[in-house]
Amino acid sequence: MQTNLHGRDLICDLDFSKEEVETVLDVAFDLKRKRALNEPHAYLRDKVLAMLFFFSSTRTRGSFEAGIAQLGGHGAFIESKSTQIANGDTEKEIGDIFGRYFDGIAIRHCDWGIGNRYLNLVAEASRVPVLNMQCDLYHPFQCLADLMTIMEKKGRDLRKKKMVVSWAYAASYSKPISVPQSLILQMPRFGLDITLSHPPEFALKPEIMEEAKAQAKKYGTSFEVVHDMDEGFKDADIVYAKSWGPLVFTDDAQKGAEITKKYEDWITNEKRMELAKEDSIYMHPLPADRNVEVTDGVIDGPHSVVFDEAENRLHAQKAVMALTMG
Ligand code: CP
Repeated sequence: MQTNLHGRDLICDLDFSKEEVETVLDVAFDLKRKRALNEPHAYLRDKVLAMLFFFSSTRTRGSFEAGIAQLGGHGAFIESKSTQIANGDTEKEIGDIFGRYFDGIAIRHCDWGIGNRYLNLVAEASRVPVLNMQCDLYHPFQCLADLMTIMEKKGRDLRKKKMVVSWAYAASYSKPISVPQSLILQMPRFGLDITLSHPPEFALKPEIMEEAKAQAKKYGTSFEVVHDMDEGFKDADIVYAKSWGPLVFTDDAQKGAEITKKYEDWITNEKRMELAKEDSIYMHPLPADRNVEVTDGVIDGPHSVVFDEAENRLHAQKAVMALTMG
């Protein structure tokens, strides 16, 4: 167990070693148990977390704000549009000044080509941990909650289990590629065989793909890419199917929408779930485009673990806050 996480940032999934992620999971399961038993666990009394949002949120805001309060601290919800950032506050100023007020700075900034850079520049100037509440490249807290959920459903030894990370069609908006990128980086370290399934135009960043393959090689797991949703689902133990934008292929919104429209049949439905193992689980970080991206029958059906997955955001985030901000 590696416990020297005090003061550390979590921006990319691989910022924490495998052993450190195991520590996070141990603490997260303990905190979940403590909450179930109503046991006090105010490890962050009088600590304050800045929660700076450049983009909307339901789960991330709710779980961080509830989590820091349950740890005895306070979460300051700050919308970027209510700050002076648009009037000139730089990343350095946010990092240095907020680092003097707060005990941690959590940021959501998903703008393509901007978000991750913003977080890293804030972190360079900050004396306190910077926590990534989702950027254009990574969603590490979603991924920790996903890993926790998979372990609850499938056990902690995940070797020889197949996880399909599949693109799915959605009409609402061009969603970030951060969730699939985080999943393919983190999951091979825990023994999962990954199949990444997407239409050709929805490829992930080449350098992330190379790193994911290197992780799979290091941990002796398999990593394959297919361009057929049915093939991806076949014999999967874990189905993780969600939409993302063709951002690596084009940053032109109009062109992206035209490409996306070609793949309306990439929906998770009951028939496709039958291709997966009988005891497979269906995962989605939410929000989902119901009956476009996934049918009600699947997301509300017996394979779905989406509510446990959303709950585990709370426990995983509390673990990281307690370990880094304590
Ligand atoms: N899964 C997730 O990050 O949800 P929100 O966008 O609602 O925070």
